[in-house]
Amino acid sequence: MAFQPQLKILISHDQIAKAINRLACEIERDYQGKHPLLIGVLKGSFVFMADLIRQLDLPLELDFVRLSSYGCARESSGKVRVVQGVKTPIKGRDVLVVEDIVDTGITISSLLDYLKRKKPASLKLCALADKPSRRRLPVPINYLGFTVPNRFIVGYGLDCDERFRNLPDIYVIED
Ligand code: IMP
Ligand code: MG
Repeated sequence: MAFQPQLKILISHDQIAKAINRLACEIERDYQGKHPLLIGVLKGSFVFMADLIRQLDLPLELDFVRLSSYGCARESSGKVRVVQGVKTPIKGRDVLVVEDIVDTGITISSLLDYLKRKKPASLKLCALADKPSRRRLPVPINYLGFTVPNRFIVGYGLDCDERFRNLPDIYVIED
C-alpha cells in the first residue's frame, strides 16, 4: 500500500488566490511599459505560474527551466544542475523568475547565477513561499506570497516524491 502521510491544511486556496491578486498588482505596477519574460522553475511552480499569469495584464512571455530535485529528502544536496535550460534569448530582457518555495536558497541561488551570466536587463524573483528558518544562502525575494514555518509542505504544485501536486490548498505533512 502507498505511504499515507497525515496532511494538515496550512494555506487555503482562498488565501492563495488573495495573495496572487496582491502579487499581480505589485508586478503590474513595477513592469508598466515593459514586456517581461517570466521563467517558471519546473515542476513545482507550474500551478502558481498558471494562476499568476492570468492575473497579469502585461505583454509577457513565458519559459521554463528544470533543475535537479531532491524528492522528499527534505535536504538539498547542495549541488544543483540545470536539467533543462531556457530556450528564449535572455540578453537584455526583464526576467522574472517564478519559484514555488525558497528553503535553503541553494537551488534558486544557482539558478539566478546561471541566468545572470546570460545578461538580462533586470532579474527579479517571485516566490509562492519562503521558509527563512533554513536559509543557507541569502536570497532577495522581490515578490513573496507566504512565509511558512520549518515544515515540509505539499499541494498547489508542491510535491513529496511527486505526490500531492494536484491538491488545491497547501498542507503540512505531519511527522
Ligand atoms: P532549496 O535549494 O533548499 O532552497 O530548495 C528549494 C527547492 O526544494 C524548491 O524549489 C522545492 O522544489 C523544494 N522544496 C523545499 N522545501 C519544500 C517543501 O516544504 N515542500 C516541497 N518542496 C520543497
Ligand atoms: Mg522547486
